Amino acid sequence: MSNGLQEVTEYSFSKKSDERFKELEKKFPEKNSLVLWALHLVQEDIGYVPEVAMEYVAQKTGVSKSWVSGVVTFYSMYNKKPVGKYHLQVCHNVSCWLNGSDKLEEAIKRKLNIEHGETTNDGKFTFSHVECLASCGTSPVVQVNNDYHEKMTPEKLEELIDELKQK
Ligand code: FES
Repeated sequence: MSNGLQEVTEYSFSKKSDERFKELEKKFPEKNSLVLWALHLVQEDIGYVPEVAMEYVAQKTGVSKSWVSGVVTFYSMYNKKPVGKYHLQVCHNVSCWLNGSDKLEEAIKRKLNIEHGETTNDGKFTFSHVECLASCGTSPVVQVNNDYHEKMTPEKLEELIDELKQK
């Protein structure tokens, strides 16, 4: 990949995720919920959910790999390929679109020179547009990794990008 993002070919939970998973197993004996949480842990560990992690989650939770794969495909919150250090996810569903999400997308393109689905050459930012983030009352919304930035404006977004560039 030109942006230096590497595909993960081996995976097991980090120590922290493994401990968290053991707690979640007690809380969620029902496998379907446990799979959702396990996939979150994968994403916290490595930023996306590769095939090898789907197999791992299937083994850990006792469901089939095809079932895990179906979950990952269904939910837009799971990244299917490697993403940059900061994943800028702009909601472009109706409420956000009516409140100017297209201007946010233009600000990202202008500022970082990347299109939807692309990552900056330094591997720092990935830009995606996503479906409703369930925060329509505070639209437009941009999710950066796990954090929501609500009532976003192009100016505030550009400032945020500048701050993240310094980190
Ligand atoms: S439409 Fe953007 S959060 Fe619902």
